Amino acid sequence: MGDNSEIPLSQRAVIQHENGILRVTPGLPIQQPGPNQILVKTKSVALNPCDFKMPIRFPTPGLWDGCDYAGIVMAVGSEVAKQGKFRLGDAVFGAVQGSNQADPTSGAYCEYLNTDQDFTFHIPNSLSFSTAPAISGTAIATLGIALFWSLKISGTLDTPSVKQEDVLVYGGSSTLGMLAIQMVKLCGHRVITTCSPRNFDLVRSYGADLVFDYNSVTCAKEIRNATKNALRYTLDPFSDMRSVSICQEALGRTGGRYCGLEQYQEQLFSRRTVKHELVMGGAISGKGVQLPEPYGVAPNAEIGNWARNWYKVVQVLINEGKIRPVPVEILPGGIDAVIGGLGILKSGQVSGKKLVINF
Ligand SMILES: NC(=O)c1ccc[n+]([C@@H]2O[C@H](COP(=O)([O-])OP(=O)(O)OC[C@H]3O[C@@H](n4cnc5c(N)ncnc54)[C@H](OP(=O)(O)O)[C@@H]3O)[C@@H](O)[C@H]2O)c1
Repeated sequence: MGDNSEIPLSQRAVIQHENGILRVTPGLPIQQPGPNQILVKTKSVALNPCDFKMPIRFPTPGLWDGCDYAGIVMAVGSEVAKQGKFRLGDAVFGAVQGSNQADPTSGAYCEYLNTDQDFTFHIPNSLSFSTAPAISGTAIATLGIALFWSLKISGTLDTPSVKQEDVLVYGGSSTLGMLAIQMVKLCGHRVITTCSPRNFDLVRSYGADLVFDYNSVTCAKEIRNATKNALRYTLDPFSDMRSVSICQEALGRTGGRYCGLEQYQEQLFSRRTVKHELVMGGAISGKGVQLPEPYGVAPNAEIGNWARNWYKVVQVLINEGKIRPVPVEILPGGIDAVIGGLGILKSGQVSGKKLVINF
């Protein structure tokens, strides 16, 4: 339901063409929201590494790209109207699963998108269309799975653990890292992190207790000393040879859990007491992730049901300013700037901030 007179008949979107090449493409449909969906007019998007990685790794012409967005509710599905959680004109943000084989028109780099109400956040007055996507619905989804289903850290975001433990958030100056630092702190734990020295103060400002330079050859040893050879949890957004090695070596005498967010070489894990796993944020919906091994995830309704309640807790913490966005750099140029922005991200020049584009 909505005022259709304001909604155009077609739109532009960044979609994959031959060999996964991304192009801003006009004349694409704007679909009516399903019963549990809302139609959002995109006001801003944030750029994520997966938005350039997916079209390269799994090129599929016709798939719509992009995950993190903020915008205005233009229409709501029948169930959404009944429940009344979202109304026309509400400012919202979140993430859809872009470049999605199971749902080709799911993408954020478009002028109008449909999204599930249960995985959508209201934008509180303290945030804007430019800052909200830098809380990153993608990071929130991924951390829901990583921290609570893979690492299984104790405590919850609204009830800290009785027992404080050490958790290594490798790459703390990444978007994922800065969100992870905040969540692990809320769960009541001590956050150990790594980044380049230029970002030490930044990660401390998000709550990191101890910071180490991952470029140092003694990084793992320093973490092991600081954690008295007892570290049991490591989160690694990068999963490259160095990060796997540092995380594995940093884990204490009795081993522990490693959660990677990229494909890693399993043979790098020489310690049998280290349980390792790759997780995908897209699994948060419970519908699974339709990708080849090892990225594919089977549907799991239990995760989806848990996540629906967990998102409500996250919304409260966002409203209270206890989960806050990472620093933002705004790129000018609207939707036409997305592909160039992804090029900047791919070149590895972005450090300690999120690239955001206002539409
Ligand atoms: N599995 C999933 O579902 C999922 C979801 C989201 C993200 N991810 C992955 O998580 C990673 C981070 O994503 P993001 O959006 O948070 O990235 P981002 O914000 O673009 O990350 C940039 C930051 O990462 C640090 N960095 C870059 N490469 C690094 C490396 N090899 N080792 C350690 N630190 C490194 C840099 O730190 P310094 O400048 O301080 O050195 C920089 O500040 C990406 O690999 C992404 O693909 C996976």
